[in-house]
Amino acid sequence: MIRSVVRGFGSSLPARVVTNQELESMVDTTDEWIVQRTGIRQRYLAGEGETTASLGEAAAREALDRAGLMIDDIDLIIVATSTPDNTFPATAVNIQHRLGMKHGVGFDLQAVCSGFVFALTTADAYIRTGLAKRVLVIGAETFSRILDWTDRTTCVLFGDGAGAIILEAVEGEGTIADRGVLTTKLRSDGSNKEKLYVDGGPSTTGTVGQLRMQGREVFKHAVGMITDVVEAAFEATGTTADDVDWLVPHQANIRIIDGSAKKLGIPLEKVVVTVDQHGNTSAASIPLALAVAAGDGRIKQGDLVLLEAMGGGFTWGAVLLRW
Ligand code: UT7
Repeated sequence: MIRSVVRGFGSSLPARVVTNQELESMVDTTDEWIVQRTGIRQRYLAGEGETTASLGEAAAREALDRAGLMIDDIDLIIVATSTPDNTFPATAVNIQHRLGMKHGVGFDLQAVCSGFVFALTTADAYIRTGLAKRVLVIGAETFSRILDWTDRTTCVLFGDGAGAIILEAVEGEGTIADRGVLTTKLRSDGSNKEKLYVDGGPSTTGTVGQLRMQGREVFKHAVGMITDVVEAAFEATGTTADDVDWLVPHQANIRIIDGSAKKLGIPLEKVVVTVDQHGNTSAASIPLALAVAAGDGRIKQGDLVLLEAMGGGFTWGAVLLRW
């Protein structure tokens, strides 16, 4: 049985760090409110010349270096983003060109904060069906460019950045002892669109638009959606919360992360948290967190890693993989 095994990882953050204290001079907020309600202490914001494609390219280069691969070894690039450099062409094609890749294919995938989980699922399907051998999966965002910087209920929450992993086809035994992606579970439901959306677009306003969120409403749905897909992933693999070495959740809010971990029965010392440092970087948050925890040696080869996310759409999903 073909498995999609993680061969390398990388990340990239903008140069500028913005603390909560700095935001106090921009909108009516306090460091205390932001820390208590979200766990966020700082975020990175893209400056001039830093874009979704430039951050994604840097994360991809780091992943290739770490894997000891050349760009010619990659067949497919999938970029999960809701903040592309242009409406078209796809940011993945832009990054393909920046990396000097003269063959293969790249495309973008848009599932907002669940984007990386959706992109991994797609990459795994390409690999398992033999359509690709090595896939570069990137989550990259510049949400700072779609925020309303006068709206304190949203602008304090998000940050910019990119993370990348390389998945490679490896023959496995077909058991959960195999390395690689073991199962993926995705869901979406458009009936809650107005709770988290961007109020513009090419086909409606002809503008980029700005992010609008009814935070409390999204919060109410988050833990239930996350635990549903995670439990489906456990059921599909015959695993339980006790088998999980690391939970790497989407980083939106420490209260959602803690609430989901508790409901699932995963102790907090097994949860990778970066929301304090990065804020919510949407599709980039999981690969950024993976790069931190694999980079500092917490996540080791053979560990069972659970990824989960929930975001605009709504979209939500979980991936269980052995590192
Ligand atoms: O990543 C994709 C999915 N997105 C999420 O998961 C986000 C989910 N939602 C959340 O994380 C939380 O709902 C928020 C962090 C957005 C808000 O936390 P909350 O505990 O739900 O607060 P709230 O929206 O109920 O607001 C409480 C109060 C309000 O004042 P009143 O009406 O009680 O007087 C807000 O106006 O806090 C006020 N408030 C602020 N105060 C200081 C809202 N934003 C701020 C702010 N600074 N930045």
